[in-house]
Amino acid sequence: MKIAGRTFVVSGGASGLGRACVRDIVASGGNAAVLDMNEELGNALVKELGPALVRFFVCDVADTDNIAAVVKATVDWVKQTGKPLGGIIPAAGVGRPGLIIDKNLNPVSLDAVDFVLSINLRGTLDLVRQVLPHLAATEPEGPDGERGVVVMVASAAAFEGQMGQVAYAASKGAVAAMTLPMARDLSRFGIRVVTIAPSLFDSAMTAVLSDKVRQSLLKAMEFPARPGRPEEFSSLVKQAIENVMLNGVVIRLDGATRMPSKL
Ligand SMILES: NC(=O)c1ccc[n+]([C@@H]2O[C@H](COP(=O)([O-])OP(=O)(O)OC[C@H]3O[C@@H](n4cnc5c(N)ncnc54)[C@H](O)[C@@H]3O)[C@@H](O)[C@H]2O)c1
Repeated sequence: MKIAGRTFVVSGGASGLGRACVRDIVASGGNAAVLDMNEELGNALVKELGPALVRFFVCDVADTDNIAAVVKATVDWVKQTGKPLGGIIPAAGVGRPGLIIDKNLNPVSLDAVDFVLSINLRGTLDLVRQVLPHLAATEPEGPDGERGVVVMVASAAAFEGQMGQVAYAASKGAVAAMTLPMARDLSRFGIRVVTIAPSLFDSAMTAVLSDKVRQSLLKAMEFPARPGRPEEFSSLVKQAIENVMLNGVVIRLDGATRMPSKL
């Protein structure tokens, strides 16, 4: 799938890993519709890359009506630019740690569980679900008749969730598990599905980790012994978009890190 001349929908695109994807898409000649709740960062990105190439839409991916309105606005923008949809990168995500029961025997709050699942799992699935009818209606491109790509974001926690990550691991494990059935559902339309499972990457989400936690995570790393950089993530997203043989797969991006049981 060529990036140039196409429009990509990126949730969570105002910050961190999603923002790096938006920058790479624009650098490769594509347009990006950025869906995020952070207006300050979203507007700053539009200023940086230019309103002709990037549109920012305030959107809470946990709110299905909000997604519907923003998908409509994106489709209208695509009609104006003539750059058809090429893919969806649902990168919006949150963490809210909580032990399944704490030392005082209080179970994890369902509000915390619902918060994480509604953004990381339901928000991912809902955005993909609502953009797909438009992606599937585009003209097929190239010898394989490609219509586009869905690149989802899981996490190393999908495989080695740590203490306090039951809800987060459930959300990311579900995203990983959706990859193959979604690819199978979409093959008839020439749409591929790839999921990337990063370990620790520098972003706003991980900037809040304490030094102690960060040092323990660094110890679990093989090589390189440092957090990943957002542009290392977006370079794999670019490859997932461009390489037609990547489909139905969850790719770990972790420098051989395996998260330990205890920090
Ligand atoms: N940074 C890491 O170490 C790491 C590791 C594994 C997976 N991930 C995943 O990568 C994705 C991107 O995270 P990041 O590290 O760039 O974090 P980040 O906090 O920098 O970016 C996340 C973005 O999502 C947006 N967002 C949050 N809730 C939203 C909602 N309800 N609707 C729309 N937007 C919302 C935030 O405003 C923010 O701009 C997430 O899914 C995260 O779980 C990150």
